[in-house]
Amino acid sequence: MLKKITVVGGGNVGATCSQLLALKELAQEVILVDVVEGVPQGKGLDQWESAPIEGFDSRVKGANDYESSAGSEIFIVTAGIARKPGMSRDDLLKTNAGIIRSVSSEIKRVAPKSIIIMVTNPLDVMAQVALETTGFPRERVIGMAGVLDTARYRSFIALELNVSIEDIQSLVLGGHGDTMVPLASYTSVSGIPLAQLMKQDRIDALVDRARKGGGEIVALLKTGSAYYAPAAAAVQMAEAIAKNKRRILPCAAWLQGEYGMKDLFLGVPVLLGEKGMERIVEVELSASEKAALAASAQAVRTTVAELKALG
Ligand code: NAI
Ligand code: 2OP
Repeated sequence: MLKKITVVGGGNVGATCSQLLALKELAQEVILVDVVEGVPQGKGLDQWESAPIEGFDSRVKGANDYESSAGSEIFIVTAGIARKPGMSRDDLLKTNAGIIRSVSSEIKRVAPKSIIIMVTNPLDVMAQVALETTGFPRERVIGMAGVLDTARYRSFIALELNVSIEDIQSLVLGGHGDTMVPLASYTSVSGIPLAQLMKQDRIDALVDRARKGGGEIVALLKTGSAYYAPAAAAVQMAEAIAKNKRRILPCAAWLQGEYGMKDLFLGVPVLLGEKGMERIVEVELSASEKAALAASAQAVRTTVAELKALG
C-alpha cells in the first residue's frame, strides 16, 4: 500500500476515484482536493464514514489546498470543467489549460517525485501542459484515455456476442477524441480473433460506437459527462503503479520517436509499474491503422497549436 494518493478535482470523476482508491486500499491516505469550500471535505468525510461498512483502512480526507497532499506518490488530476451537450472536448481548452497549469505547479511544489495520471480534457493536450509545467520526466506524466476507450469497446463487444467481459481483449490507440483508433486486429475473445465471431459491418458499428462513447453518455446525462467508467480506468492505472503490477495498458504517453512520432502525447500500449510509464510497446500496424494513428496525432497537434495560439 502506498502512503498517499491525491485526487485533484472533487467532482464526479474525482470523487468516484477517491472512493475506489479507498475501497481498494491503494494508499494509507487518500486526499481529495477541490477549490470549492466544503465539498472535498464533505465528500471525503462521507467516504471515510463508509469505511466501517466496507472495511477499508484508507483514510479519506478533503482539502482546499495542497498541504495535506505533500509527499503523495500519485496524483490523479480531474480538475476542470466537464463537457456539456453540444460542447466539444476542445471547447474546454483554454479554461482547463489554466487550471492544469496551476494544479501542476502545486503538485511540483508539494510532491516533486510524484507520478501524475491526467484525466482532464482535452486529455492529450492537458497531459502536455502538466509535463511542461512540472518538467517531470515523461515516465511520471501519463494520460488516462485508452483504458476507458478500450473498456467501452470491450463492453459493446460483450453485449453484442452475449459473452463474458472477462474474455475480451482489445486495444484502442490514438488521441482521446473521435479520431481514436480501435484496433480490430488486436481484438480477441479468449484468443479467438474478433473477425471469426462477428461480421465486418458489426465490427465497424461497434468501433464507431466506441469512438463516440463519451458523447453517447453526455447526450443521455445532459448535465455532464461520464464518470463511473472514467474513474475505474484512472484507478486501474493507479493500481498498476501502486502495486508495481507491470501491466500493459493503453495510456497517453509522451512519444519520443515511438510509432515514428515525437513531442506529443498519444494513446499507445505502455508498461505501467512503480516508476510510472516504464516502457512504450510498439505493435505492428497495417497501412490503414498507421494512417488512422497519424490522423489522430494530427488532431492532437492541431489542438496543441490552438492552445499555443491562445497564449
Ligand atoms: P466535474 O465538473 O464534476 O468536476 C470537476 C471538478 O474540478 C469540480 O468539482 C471543480 O470544482 C474542480 N476544479 C475546478 N478548478 C479546480 C482547481 N483549480 N483545483 C481543484 N479543483 C478544481 O467534472 P468531471 O465529470 O469530474 O470531469 C472532470 C474532467 O475530466 C473534465 O475535464 C472531463 O472532461 C474530464 N474527463 C476525462 C475523461 C478521459 O477519458 N480522459 C473521461 C471523463 C471525464
Ligand atoms: C469521455 O470520454 C468526457 O472524455 C470523456 O467520457
